[in-house]
Amino acid sequence: MIPADMAGFLTFEGITKRFRDVPAVDRVSLEILQGEIFSLLGPSGCGKTTLLRMVAGFIHPDEGRILLEGRDISGLPPEQRPVNTVFQNYALFPHLSIRDNIAFGLKMARRPRAEIRDAVDRMVDLVDLGGHEDKFSHEISGGQRQRVAIARALVNRPRVLLLDEPLAALDLKLRQRLLAELSALHDEIGTTFLYVTHDQDEAMGISCRIAVMNRGRIEQLGEPREIYEAPTNPFVATFIGETNLWEGMVLAVEAEGIRIDLSSRGHLFLPIQTGTFSVGDRVHLSLRPERLRIVKAGEGTGTPGVVETAVYLGSQTRYRVRVGEDIWQVTEPHEEGEPEWERGDGVLLQWDADDVVLVGRA
Ligand SMILES: Nc1ncnc2c1ncn2[C@@H]1O[C@H](COP(=O)(O)OP(=O)(O)OP(=O)(O)O)[C@@H](O)[C@H]1O
Ligand SMILES: [Mg+2]
Repeated sequence: MIPADMAGFLTFEGITKRFRDVPAVDRVSLEILQGEIFSLLGPSGCGKTTLLRMVAGFIHPDEGRILLEGRDISGLPPEQRPVNTVFQNYALFPHLSIRDNIAFGLKMARRPRAEIRDAVDRMVDLVDLGGHEDKFSHEISGGQRQRVAIARALVNRPRVLLLDEPLAALDLKLRQRLLAELSALHDEIGTTFLYVTHDQDEAMGISCRIAVMNRGRIEQLGEPREIYEAPTNPFVATFIGETNLWEGMVLAVEAEGIRIDLSSRGHLFLPIQTGTFSVGDRVHLSLRPERLRIVKAGEGTGTPGVVETAVYLGSQTRYRVRVGEDIWQVTEPHEEGEPEWERGDGVLLQWDADDVVLVGRA
């Protein structure tokens, strides 16, 4: 439930932006809530940065309005918008110390010296840069630089912090650590974050809600768990995590659910209530690799297949199993005493109908 007074803190109303007649952002409408971490997630070129830059005021929509706290900000120049951006490449001033980098916005706004000093000290503390204040950006690590960039943006007390792939330049370990730090920082200050990334793990890990974008449009909007477990279209099902995507045909619509013909994979009864499908409709279905189980051929019932590849990943193994013309992806955790499978093994694949997700029409 969204409390009425929280609705539409940052609102996009039918935003379209074209470059050379090609829409980079295509009729996007969206409401971001006060205090949430909202992510725009999607492949390269889907329009994430373009949308963010329109909030910052660096580019202007061809159509639509952007409202912040109910006020149309479309006409405001960037410096008058109560937002700040953290970029992928830090964009720190090399000739200024860390302290002066962080103080920059407040100096430009001609705040009193004492206020600037206190605010900078608070920020240095907040992003854990104590002892580095007098260094220059080439004297600190990439992770520390990005913390300076975050401090430099937050010191202006923006109503919305815009983050455009802020961790993309860092290695995996550091990315994970900074993501956790960002999340803790957000808990502490409560500022609304609009977070852009093409990395689904990052979006999953930090977001209250995610909008999955593709070709300038929002394909699905929801909480991380919802997006992962109940994708509403094939794009989201395959972009978020790995999945087995099947096509089927509705055979019967019954009171308790619908029966689907999966051709060579047999029939499937999905215990879902839906008024939107009728007999003969073609549909997409998704089954996550971790929802499949592998047992030895001859030891139970299931779909017969042959293991093609097995990739050991430490905590789990990822298998590709040939079933007729298809390849099914299966991941299995390593458990004490459980068998592991090798290329060429004849196996049976088992799954529960409950785990199959109907993702929409084919
Ligand atoms: N200034 C520009 N002039 C012309 N085309 C542009 C401009 N900026 C962006 N585009 C195009 O608009 C589309 C969306 O670009 P955008 O930078 O918003 O994508 P993105 O989702 O941020 O991608 P990435 O993950 O690679 O950063 C792309 O096709 C891009 O080539
Ligand atoms: Mg971008």
